[in-house]
Amino acid sequence: MGAGAYAARSTPSDRPEDADAPEGRSRTGPGGVVYIDGRWFSPDEAKISVFDHGLLYGDGVFEGIRFYAGRVFKLDPHLDRMYRSAHGIGLVPPIGQDELRRVVLEACARSGFRDGYLRPLFTRGKGDLGIDPRKSPRPSVVVICATIAMFSIPEGSGIRVIVASRRKVPASSLDPRVKSLNYLNSVLAKSEANARGADEAILLDEHSNVAEGSAENVFLVRDGTLVTPPTSASLEGITRETVVDLARGVRRLEVRPIALQEMFVADEVFLTGTGGEILPVVEVEGRRVGNGKQGPVTQEIRRAYSALVRSTGTLIPYDS
Ligand SMILES: Cc1ncc(COP(=O)(O)O)c(C=O)c1O
Repeated sequence: MGAGAYAARSTPSDRPEDADAPEGRSRTGPGGVVYIDGRWFSPDEAKISVFDHGLLYGDGVFEGIRFYAGRVFKLDPHLDRMYRSAHGIGLVPPIGQDELRRVVLEACARSGFRDGYLRPLFTRGKGDLGIDPRKSPRPSVVVICATIAMFSIPEGSGIRVIVASRRKVPASSLDPRVKSLNYLNSVLAKSEANARGADEAILLDEHSNVAEGSAENVFLVRDGTLVTPPTSASLEGITRETVVDLARGVRRLEVRPIALQEMFVADEVFLTGTGGEILPVVEVEGRRVGNGKQGPVTQEIRRAYSALVRSTGTLIPYDS
């Protein structure tokens, strides 16, 4: 049932792209808009070089951001993380954070969408066929503004997950806090879920503890307490942090390693991510979670999250 994570649904615009009018207003249509290194394109016209090391080696970083009802949710924390990721791989962003913020908001305004999905990314840029990043002196910046189709969750129910056979790439090899363009570990886990007829895969870390989903952090509920793994083996998820904030003063929270067995016997399990939002899990490796329905704590958090994303965030300047 689940649509692929980050399956951005962008319908090509039938209007001409305005790549030659970088400062002009977009003429892109309902399918979204793409910014590449100072120029605006319709999604079907947006192209980067085949020599870009983002394509050749996954050498780059990105963010996934949602906007709701004309406001971008957690824009600055996402941009902060993106610049931290870039710093982590020694990529000097081609534009400053204030300028990228302006571009992201302009992309939303140009799209005309009230609700949508943003994918800003930095690639190492064009190089030669060798891996050496010194051959790519000019990183590129891309901002995609589109919509996103994620999981469809039947009323009161949730998703079914499996445990991926491949472990999360250890932090000693690739720090999971860097949101790099190299997502093969996640793609293969997701493919395994697809092959086994599940909606999503959970990756374990090198110590066999629960790390994260292919594009989500993990929470358990046990006797009313929320439990989530530390971010030493997972992305420092912004939705995860939002849930922690929402639960503060309402629920007890434990941040500690989680053994797989704990997922099997949890009262509730849910995943968190910008794309998937708050995803109730009703089955783990064929074992029913709780009573096999959305649990009360998950429902409470889903409601609180949904209210928050629609009432806060950076206003999109549609009229400027
Ligand atoms: C591997 C991974 N973990 C967790 C998350 C959730 O992070 P966030 O809540 O910031 O979207 C993502 C989101 O892209 C992800 O790719």
